[in-house]
Amino acid sequence: MYSMNSSLSSIEPSITMKLNTIAKSMKAQGIDVVDLTAGEPDFPTPKEICEAAIDAINQGFTKYTPATGIQELRERIASKLSTENNIPVTAKNIVVTNGAKSAIFGALSAVVNPGDDVIVVAPSWVSYIPQIKLLGARPVVLQANSENNFIPEISKLQEIANHKTKAIIINSPNNPTGVVYPEEFFKDLVKLAEEKEFYIISDEIYEKLIYEGRHLSPASINPEVVITINGFSKAYSMTGWRVGYVAASDPIISNISKFQSHTASNVNSIAQKAALKALDVNTDYMVEEFRKRRDFLISEFEKINIKFVKPMGAFYFFMDFSDLIGKFSNGKELKSGFDICETLLKEYKLALVPGEGFEAPGFVRLSFAASMESLEKAVQRLKNFLDSLV
Ligand SMILES: Cc1ncc(COP(=O)(O)O)c(C=O)c1O
Repeated sequence: MYSMNSSLSSIEPSITMKLNTIAKSMKAQGIDVVDLTAGEPDFPTPKEICEAAIDAINQGFTKYTPATGIQELRERIASKLSTENNIPVTAKNIVVTNGAKSAIFGALSAVVNPGDDVIVVAPSWVSYIPQIKLLGARPVVLQANSENNFIPEISKLQEIANHKTKAIIINSPNNPTGVVYPEEFFKDLVKLAEEKEFYIISDEIYEKLIYEGRHLSPASINPEVVITINGFSKAYSMTGWRVGYVAASDPIISNISKFQSHTASNVNSIAQKAALKALDVNTDYMVEEFRKRRDFLISEFEKINIKFVKPMGAFYFFMDFSDLIGKFSNGKELKSGFDICETLLKEYKLALVPGEGFEAPGFVRLSFAASMESLEKAVQRLKNFLDSLV
């Protein structure tokens, strides 16, 4: 009998995609859906970056590049990491990848063996657990709670980390909670990682989008045990270009290079030239616009008593709707975050993402990567929904 890959069979298709598809088809029918599911900035890619790509094409820069990325870009990334993030790396420690997503998969592939444990902090980004499972490793969830502002507790981590723990994936600023971890957390985490001998995979993709607090790269504390992930998607509104990177110590980066060369060859040559340009482009205007939207939503949500932890970074509100479970909206019982989102979409034309996709049932994620006009409409629709509950 034919059979297929059992690791893949155990992985659910992304819940984000499911509601996204419904929202898209409603929009195609001309329904005025306010779609706040987006995981990408709503700004166009800056013009200078696009022009660098056009120049690359016109100059015939359209062939294979080294698997690890073009030398100028690796050097420029290394200099950014040394000066801005205090990570002592040179170009040889960098691999340019197809977005941060494949940087994370490359990092996991470099260090994880089948049967190893990899700790993931919940609420967590949707692809960490599936990637761990794809490698035949076991995801172990470390729950972070809203009472602690979604900062994971080191004492809990100490309890669950054991000799089978190969790595932990952390993400600050965080999707979906918006938390920016404090310096103390990173210091304690690195200390524990050294003690228990596990790697830290630090996903820093939202590094540039911070409204409160300060970004710290744990690799600045110990570059031997931390693998740093970053990319161009969120900081430069370049989601479709697919450029990210990973920085790691010599032995780890050598494994990642092998992985990259046999699975992807190289990142699109044109997009690499665009990324090189991006590192010289100032995108503070995007951050300021996100900040305005965040502040607007904080004040509106407070007025209608929505429970949330104030986002310090990224562009999401992670709303605690657990009190709504068991209530009825227009005769329909709300049994989960998914039900809440389905009702919001179908009855109130507001598309949000249920917390179940982030290992956080009862929560709902709202992205403020959308115009002020959309956000104003969203607040009104949320209010109408809350008023409907019995
Ligand atoms: C936390 C987190 N990490 C990684 C990624 C992947 O980004 P990229 O587009 O660079 O693959 C995303 C995208 O949504 C994300 O939210």
